[in-house]
Amino acid sequence: MSGKSQTNWWEGLNAKLEQNVPLSGLTWFGLGGPARYLVSPSSRAELSHVVRRAREHDITVKVLGGGANVLVRDDGFDGLVIRLDDPDFAALDFADDHVTAGAGVDLMQLAFSCARKGLSGLEALAGIPGTVGGAVRMNAGGRHGDIGDVVENIDTVDHAGQSGTLDHDRVGFTYRHTDLNGNIVCSATLKVAPDDPEAVLDRFREFWAEKKRTQPLAARSAGCVFKNPPGKSAGALVDQAGLKGTTIGGATVSETHANFFVTTTGARAAEVIALIALVRRRVKDEHGIDLETEIDIW
Ligand code: EPU
Repeated sequence: MSGKSQTNWWEGLNAKLEQNVPLSGLTWFGLGGPARYLVSPSSRAELSHVVRRAREHDITVKVLGGGANVLVRDDGFDGLVIRLDDPDFAALDFADDHVTAGAGVDLMQLAFSCARKGLSGLEALAGIPGTVGGAVRMNAGGRHGDIGDVVENIDTVDHAGQSGTLDHDRVGFTYRHTDLNGNIVCSATLKVAPDDPEAVLDRFREFWAEKKRTQPLAARSAGCVFKNPPGKSAGALVDQAGLKGTTIGGATVSETHANFFVTTTGARAAEVIALIALVRRRVKDEHGIDLETEIDIW
């Protein structure tokens, strides 16, 4: 951070701002340092004010969803972390052919609620942790589909605090990526279709069971560490390089799925980062392929 004075930069804002807040408890890896500032705006208007003010004072902003895909470095994040965990960002509105969900809504709960109501479309998201906002931001998904496949439009707040709506094509969904840049997702409208609730629930349970069978979901991890290179599976490449079980400090390449790194209590971000580097080097040596990280390193 640089530039303008950052002392009392939030003065006059209604949002309650905390300082030096540990992020380890807010991420699935359970490690890393504190956020210099953390705020949970209680409305979109408040979110806009906070974003605008942070920009005026050159404060870097990041949004933390469910923390399911984030690795926070040991020295923490020297900026403002925004959490959309206020009830104002948890609204849900079900219709026959779409559902609108606030950014803070838990993705699994949303997919399960739709299944129970006999609304089909989100079954592919069974077993994916995180919030709607985070899932849209990184186009979360798996073998059966990505969230971008069903997004009709999203409501956003941009860098400058301006509200807007982006339709599907403007979000730019590609594999685990969007072109949202600094646009913060406030809510998303997802396409669903009425179906027999039992049939939808069956698919939901089947996809979830498949994930539980093949992935270490009970361990502390951030899901897949690397993106799949075109036409290949990163997990299979790491596995074939003989790296399952490789450990640095409190971080280990999962024996269940080699694209998951699991951490133990007391693990440090530096150990996960060193393990990422080691695995990348070994996969490059073995297969000649450069793996790209999927997790977001703060
Ligand atoms: N495989 C191995 N060894 C391993 C892991 C996988 O040989 O350690 C093999 C499997 O046997 C299979 C192939 O690799 O033949 C693909 O594995 P899998 O079906 O588990 O899928 P994946 O490509 O590794 C992707 C997503 C997952 C998603 C699953 C299932 C990415 C990077 N990963 O994994 O998403 O859950 O499909 O739908 O796109 C995530 O993004 O965080 C994530 C977990």
